[in-house]
Amino acid sequence: MAQNVVMQSEELFKKIVAHAKEYGFVYPSSEIYDGLSAVYDYGAYGAELKNNIRSYWWQAMTYLHQNIVGIDAAIFMHPTTWKASGHVDAFNDPLIDNKDSKKRYRADVLIEEYIAKLQEKIQKEIEKAKKRFENFDEEFFKNTNPRVKEIQDKIHQIEQRFKTALENNDLQEIKQIILDCEIVCPISGTRNWTDVRQFNLMFATQLGSVSDEANTIYLRPETAQGIFVNFLNVQKTARMKIPFGIAQTGKAFRNEIVARQFIFRMREFEQMEMQFFVKPGTEMEWYEYWKNDRLKWHLALGLSPDFYRFKDHTKLAHYANAACDIEFKFPFGFKELEGIHSRTDFDLSNHEKYSGKKLQYFDPEENKSYVPYVVETSVGLDRLFLAIFSSAYKEEMVENETRTVLSIPPALAPVKAAVFPLVKKDGMPEIAQKLWDELKFLGKVIYEDKDTIGRRYRRQDAIGTPYCITIDNETLQNETVTVRERDTMQQERMHISKVYSYLEEKTSIKTLLRKL
Ligand code: GAP
Repeated sequence: MAQNVVMQSEELFKKIVAHAKEYGFVYPSSEIYDGLSAVYDYGAYGAELKNNIRSYWWQAMTYLHQNIVGIDAAIFMHPTTWKASGHVDAFNDPLIDNKDSKKRYRADVLIEEYIAKLQEKIQKEIEKAKKRFENFDEEFFKNTNPRVKEIQDKIHQIEQRFKTALENNDLQEIKQIILDCEIVCPISGTRNWTDVRQFNLMFATQLGSVSDEANTIYLRPETAQGIFVNFLNVQKTARMKIPFGIAQTGKAFRNEIVARQFIFRMREFEQMEMQFFVKPGTEMEWYEYWKNDRLKWHLALGLSPDFYRFKDHTKLAHYANAACDIEFKFPFGFKELEGIHSRTDFDLSNHEKYSGKKLQYFDPEENKSYVPYVVETSVGLDRLFLAIFSSAYKEEMVENETRTVLSIPPALAPVKAAVFPLVKKDGMPEIAQKLWDELKFLGKVIYEDKDTIGRRYRRQDAIGTPYCITIDNETLQNETVTVRERDTMQQERMHISKVYSYLEEKTSIKTLLRKL
C-alpha cells in the first residue's frame, strides 16, 4: 500500500525543479556557460509533454469548433504593429530597486505579495477557529471576528489605493504604498527603496545587414497581433462568418524584470492564443462563454477542481473592457495560468488607423460593415506545463522505499507505454520487439531490457509512463502479457492482441477531447 510523503511547499518546489532536470524534462538554457536567466530548454520527455499539451489545446480549439481555424504567423512583424497595439507606449512594468541589496523588483508584485501574506493570515485564523468550534460557519466567522475584519479592511484599503494609483499611472503613490505597508527587501531586510520607474518589456533588434538601412524591430511580446493583422486574410480565405475565431501557438518574448520561479515567468516562452471576433454589443456574452469553455478544458485533465479559481483583473490592460485570469494552485500559491480578455475593437481599429487599410467585416444579416469586437483566450504553454508537472509530482512510501511518480494525465504523458521482456532469452525479446513495433503508432513507446523489472518500473514511474507491459514465461505459453498501471501499480493480464486498443483508449488525446 502506497503512502504519500507530505512536504513543505518550498521543499516540494525545489524537488520538482531538480526532478525536471534529472529526468530530461527541463534544463537551464546553455547550462555549460552557467545558464541564461529565465531561459530554459526542454529535454527528451519535456519536449514530448509540451507537444502533447499543445496538441490538446490545438485540437480542442480548431477541431472541436467549426468556427475556429488556426494560423502560424511570423515572430517578426512590421514595427508599426507595436505602435498600433500600444505596446511601444504602454507595455511597461513598474520597477523599484533596493539601494542596499541592489536587487530589482516589480513594485506591483511586492504589493501583491504583501496582500497575499495578509490573506494567509486570515486563512490561519480560520483554520484555528475551525478546530475550536463544532458546526463552524466560515462566512459568519469572517464577517464577525474582529481580527479577521481588521485584516480584511486593511486589504481592501491597500487594493483600492493600488488600483487608483495604477489607473492614474501614479508611480509616487505606488512607492508610498510600499513604504506605508513597511515592505522590506527580502535580501537586505531594509526599506531603502528608489523611486518607481516604468520599464518597457519588449526586446528590440535590427532588421537588415547594412546599418543605414537597419530598422528597429521587436521580438513579439504576444502572439495575438499576428492574428489581428491577418484578420481579413483569414476571414476571406477560410470563408469565415462572424462569430469566428483564429487560434495560434508560438513563441513570445518579454524582458521580464523579475524572472523567478523556474518556467513560471520566462523571457522566452510560448503562448497559445485564440482571438474570437464577434458583433459589437455581444462581447460580454462571449466573454462568459469563453470563461466557462476554458475552465472546462482545464478540468477535463482530471486534476482537482480546487486547483483552479477565477480572478478579475484589478487593473485592465490598455486594450480591455473586461478581463480575468484562471489561476492555478502552484506549489508557491495561486497564480495566473490563463487570461481571458474582452479586447473591444481596440486592436483592429488601431491597425486600421496606422495602416490606412480597412479591417472591417461585412455582415450580411445586418447588411453593413463594422470593426468586430474581440474576446481573447491566452494561456502560456510553459506555465501550463509547470501546472501539470508540479501537480503530478508525488513521493510515496512503498514497502519502506520512496517511489517518485509523475501522475501526468495519460493522454498527455510523454511516453505512452514501456515494453519489457522479463529476461533477455527464451524468445521474450523478439515478442517484446514485435509488440513495440505495433505500439509505436500510439506515440512515444520505450523498449527496455536492462535491470530488474522493479527498477524498470521505477524509472518509468519517474517520467510518468502510464503503462508498462511485461512479456514473461506465461506469454510463451498462452500469449498473455501483464499491463501494469502507474498510479495504482496494479497489474492486469490480457491477450497480447488486445494491448494496442486498450492503450489507445486510455492514452489518446481523443479521450480528453471527448469530455469537452
Ligand atoms: N495576448 C494577451 C496576453 O499576452 P498576458 O496575460 O500578458 O496576455 C497571457 O499573457 C498568458 O501568457 C499568461 O496567462 C501566462 O500564462 C503566459 N505568460 C505571460 N508572460 C509569461 C512569461 N514571462 N513566462 C511564461 N508565461 C507567460
